[in-house]
Amino acid sequence: MVITQTTNPSSFSIISTKKIIQMNEVWTSYDSKSYVLKGINLSIDKGTIYSIVGQSGSGKSTLLKLMNGLMTRSKGTIKIDYQTPNMNDKKFKSMMHKIGYIPQSLGLIKNISVLENTLIGALPRLGKIQSLFKMFPEKEIQEAKKILKLVGLLGKEKRKIYMLSGGEKRRVAIARALMQKPTILLADEIVSELDHVTAREIMNLIVDAQKRMNLTAIMVHHDMQLALEYSNRVAVIKAGEKILEIGVEGDKIVDFQTGDLTTQEIMEMYTGESKK
Ligand SMILES: Nc1ncnc2c1ncn2[C@@H]1O[C@H](COP(=O)(O)OP(=O)(O)OP(=O)(O)O)[C@@H](O)[C@H]1O
Ligand SMILES: [Mg+2]
Repeated sequence: MVITQTTNPSSFSIISTKKIIQMNEVWTSYDSKSYVLKGINLSIDKGTIYSIVGQSGSGKSTLLKLMNGLMTRSKGTIKIDYQTPNMNDKKFKSMMHKIGYIPQSLGLIKNISVLENTLIGALPRLGKIQSLFKMFPEKEIQEAKKILKLVGLLGKEKRKIYMLSGGEKRRVAIARALMQKPTILLADEIVSELDHVTAREIMNLIVDAQKRMNLTAIMVHHDMQLALEYSNRVAVIKAGEKILEIGVEGDKIVDFQTGDLTTQEIMEMYTGESKK
């Protein structure tokens, strides 16, 4: 936790947390019969990239949904910048626009344009009437165009989503999320199924946003090698449990959560995943 001191040493005006996301012993279930996440503990530093890797069905998307209140926990505590995610809570709802979420399905509107999809990210900033009739001020339109240029979609603003390639669609989803001016970005497998060059181009966009906006990005990946290359920390989820947390420091892979795994098992996991 960082306490910022003002000119008057006796008064502190801001308390800001370094651990922007914290989960303690979090359990969750879809049907109240079995748990899909079991005792998750994690702590994510502001301004970092944190990735989640694991087999299909292990609970990665569920973990992201817990962070933006789309899913509720059964047990444990979750704090997102001091708030407990809860869609019924006014305080949390008022900070929701600060969380950019790119679902696994991308959530784009297919029959409207790239520009219109991007502008949806500005809706929380508009007044009720403007928002209802989607009346976007010129400065928002210019901002959207600037972001579309940044993500490499200059000249394609008027294209309908169904006319785009998979990589281009992902760029629109990133543009829409950046348009929100988020402090946290949750991105669910936005580079899976893309070729290596496009996947890296898209990851570089996230790294760029992280640096420019001090964004905290939490990303779900299938490729362990790519995850390690682009993240400060990588959590491995297996059958609802976080079994490992690793990161690269210099030329070493560092294990931040020593569990039951041996070094050999960790390396096998790394090389096994990277062959995909
Ligand atoms: N809406 C739902 N209702 C009931 N069960 C669900 C629901 N969504 C997910 N599940 C179950 O919860 C478990 C975790 O699902 P989740 O989507 O989090 O996995 P994942 O790791 O993201 O998988 P993938 O890599 O295939 O996207 C799975 O067993 C899944 O079948
Ligand atoms: Mg998923």
